Formats: sequence, C-alpha cells, structure tokens
Amino acid sequence: MNQLKWDESFSVQVDELDEQHKKWIDIINQLDDAIDEGEGSLESLYAVQKTFLGMEEYSHFHFATEEKHMQSIGFEGLESHKKEHAFFKKRLHKYKKDLENGQQVFNNALMKFLVDWLVYHIQEEDMKYAR
Ligand SMILES: [Fe+2]
Repeated sequence: MNQLKWDESFSVQVDELDEQHKKWIDIINQLDDAIDEGEGSLESLYAVQKTFLGMEEYSHFHFATEEKHMQSIGFEGLESHKKEHAFFKKRLHKYKKDLENGQQVFNNALMKFLVDWLVYHIQEEDMKYAR
C-alpha cells in the first residue's frame, strides 16, 4: 500500500496534536511494512501484532490528549467528537478479540480501514476544532 504522508492539509494548528498525528501515521506505515514483510513466520507475526497493539495504545493516548484540548477551548462539538473516537476504539477492540480468537486480521481490509478512518477523521472531524 502507498505510505500515508502527513502534509499541511492535516494540520489542526496545534503543534502537540500535529506531532501526535504524525507519530500515529508513522505507526500505521510501520504496520503496513510489517504486514508486507511478514511471510508467515511466527516471528514476523509477532512483530505485526506488537505494532498493531502499539498503535491501539497510541490512539488511546492521543484521543485523551485531544479531548482534553477540545475541553480546554470549550469546543461545542466535544460530545459528538468523543463518539467518533469511541467508534474507532470499539472497532479496534473487535479486531483485537478476533486476533485473540486466532483469526487472521492483518490484511488489506484492516489497513484500508485504519488509513481511511484516520485521514477522514483528521481532515473532516479534527478540522472542526481547528477552526
Ligand atoms: Fe479526533
């Protein structure tokens, strides 16, 4: 898959949050690389899992920072924005459960979901508090 690249169209005009979005994009690219490199060896599967779980953890950390920021500026869309975050968390939780149940979850559909959700979320939803 093409690597996702941060550019000014992703900027929410808050340095800390832009940095976090860049880091998140890096992790998604790492995950994509790890999936591509994984040729079915157990070791590579562990590497993919570790990156995936790291991304989930990072997304939670980032959502918390972002929600705190929105609260601090009195953003009126906070509650509906929190729902967007909750939707993502739920989807990831489901992937994790499938993984625990031995299902093969690392594929193009997962990558497409992660990339599409993040791009849409930053450029459409996050932009609302940037304005
Ligand atoms: Fe957000």
